[in-house]
Amino acid sequence: MAKEMVLVSGGAGYIGSHTTVALIEAGYDVVVIDNLSNSDLGAVEGVRKITGVDVPFEQVDCCDKEALRAIFKKYPFNSVIHFAAYKAVGESVEQPLKYYSNNLGSFLNILELMQEEGRSNVLFSSSATVYGEPDELPVTEASPRKPATSPYGNTKQMCEDILRDTVAAGAGVKGIALRYFNPMGAHPSALIGELPRGVPNNLVPFITQTAAGVRECLSIFGNDYNTPDGTCIRDYIDVVDLAAAHVAAIGRLVEGCNKKDYEVFNVGTGRGVSVMELVEAFERVNGLKLNYRIVGRRSGDVESVWAETSLANNELGWKAVRTLDETLAAAWAWEKHVRGIE
Ligand code: UFG
Repeated sequence: MAKEMVLVSGGAGYIGSHTTVALIEAGYDVVVIDNLSNSDLGAVEGVRKITGVDVPFEQVDCCDKEALRAIFKKYPFNSVIHFAAYKAVGESVEQPLKYYSNNLGSFLNILELMQEEGRSNVLFSSSATVYGEPDELPVTEASPRKPATSPYGNTKQMCEDILRDTVAAGAGVKGIALRYFNPMGAHPSALIGELPRGVPNNLVPFITQTAAGVRECLSIFGNDYNTPDGTCIRDYIDVVDLAAAHVAAIGRLVEGCNKKDYEVFNVGTGRGVSVMELVEAFERVNGLKLNYRIVGRRSGDVESVWAETSLANNELGWKAVRTLDETLAAAWAWEKHVRGIE
């Protein structure tokens, strides 16, 4: 029997490359597309090395509908995982149209082509950003979505709605939105990992780059929050665990185990960790001292958010299994690999 084929858009990116590995290891055929605007072909090479599979790669921009149509014509996939999107919160505030045009346009093309070409299953990369500053913790999938505080966050909410409405219209498409909490870490091979361009926006790459001497000092944005140590709390999810959640969600759609044709799942660990705890764990696990200082709050930051994960645990049969220590060791191993540090 032919293997199921999955199209992974943004498959040269951080989460896309780890998910491609997990899909291949689970027995899927994968086609990777990416416009390489914020990613590197080296990630596809890393995936090929890890899996021993010469995974097909096509440099395509999902906003180019005719180029995307050619991919739909060329490959007989029935499932799509749509990672391709811009993701820098601050940049989205400065350049909202860039975010609306790219993040909405690419997803609309994917969904239109799925209808036009008769493909069934789609996973959308959503974010815990849709919960904003939650009223109750942990957040469940039924927790209210809050008005978005950035155009980036708004595109995540809008794409969830576009998917929900498309599915509801009986377009022959089934969809799942996965709401990621804070992905971090890298594949244990250290052949793929997070490779931000320029100054990292996110905490863990800033930590690893500071440890590697690429950045002088980590700024911790505020220690006057209403949390035990005053720093913000997040739910840090290992990217390999996150990749496994995609395999479980695709399996649910492919096997028709979904209870509704549009479903939403939180993908986190269920555990909140403060910025300070994370920094201290990184130092302890990797046996080094990090240069950091406390500075003022970063505008737009949520104080605390972590996931209630029982829906994903029960329905997807998936659970985060990697420990914070393992993940921080993997993040550092990857940074050392990138920088050529022994
Ligand atoms: N932080 C620092 N210093 C840094 C970077 C981050 O102290 O140099 C702190 C932030 O203030 C925050 C925590 O580390 O308290 C995590 O910050 P990240 O930028 O790594 O992650 P966020 O939770 O702000 O953002 C993530 C995703 C976004 C998403 C958001 C909400 O990166 O895409 O979660 O879900 F919108």
